Amino acid sequence: MTLYDRIAAFYDPWSRSVTEDVGFYVDRALASGGPVVELAVGTGRIAVPIARAGIDVIGVDSSPEMLVVARSSAEAAGVAERLDLRVGDLREPPVSERVPLVVCPFRSLLHMETEAEKLRALRAARALLVPEGRFVFDVFAPSSEDIAETHDRWLEREPGIFERAVWDEASRTLSLSVRSGNEETTFGLHWLSAPEWQALLARAGLEVEELLGWFDGRPFAGEEDMIFTCRRGGARPPEARPTPVASGDPTP
Ligand SMILES: C[S@@+](CC[C@H](N)C(=O)[O-])C[C@H]1O[C@@H](n2cnc3c(N)ncnc32)[C@H](O)[C@@H]1O
Repeated sequence: MTLYDRIAAFYDPWSRSVTEDVGFYVDRALASGGPVVELAVGTGRIAVPIARAGIDVIGVDSSPEMLVVARSSAEAAGVAERLDLRVGDLREPPVSERVPLVVCPFRSLLHMETEAEKLRALRAARALLVPEGRFVFDVFAPSSEDIAETHDRWLEREPGIFERAVWDEASRTLSLSVRSGNEETTFGLHWLSAPEWQALLARAGLEVEELLGWFDGRPFAGEEDMIFTCRRGGARPPEARPTPVASGDPTP
């Protein structure tokens, strides 16, 4: 059982107030023409609106229970045939198709614990793109005010749904607990700064086209949220190239 299986039944009520990103990702999907791959698709909070806009989505998630909810939301919205849901790890997505847009919304890449795992995930996303395809994702790094305000306190985020954030600034890890009734889960989110993300993206062969600070399009100016739009460059990333066999190797 994955950590999200435990909260699949109340993930949508828990995240009910998170709506600001939906239109942003739908617009990106429409601009791409589709199909779209969503890594860590969850309950389809973003994928179902994309499908409703007429774009096919392949959604990958490691939690079978989150996908059960996504399937029933897609059926209720009448777009089940547009949503292809696959159980799998976003570092090795079970996707052979190549698409013009890959998305990974709502900070899901922060589930990758180390920089090495984040790099694996970025490379996997790049590998799904057609040449010139885009990878769009959002992450955050907390402010010290946010840490001070919320640290180690149970807060009722929605009626009957509680969350507690335990911040470890040394390891840059947020342990987030979510509880409703008898069900509770705790997962880790591992943040990086914007320059660290930019360095990883370069290593993965993804060129940053745009870095926003919010979904309304304002540029990033050092706030907590970061929304990256990256383009798959033509050249393979340096570390993916074979090591030259001799000096003066003419391979570009
Ligand atoms: C915060 S939710 C985001 C869900 C959805 N994208 C949204 O915007 O509401 C994070 C999702 O990441 C999934 N997840 C975590 N680690 C994963 C992994 N290694 N591979 C695939 N999915 C993963 C969880 O199961 C969960 O559904």
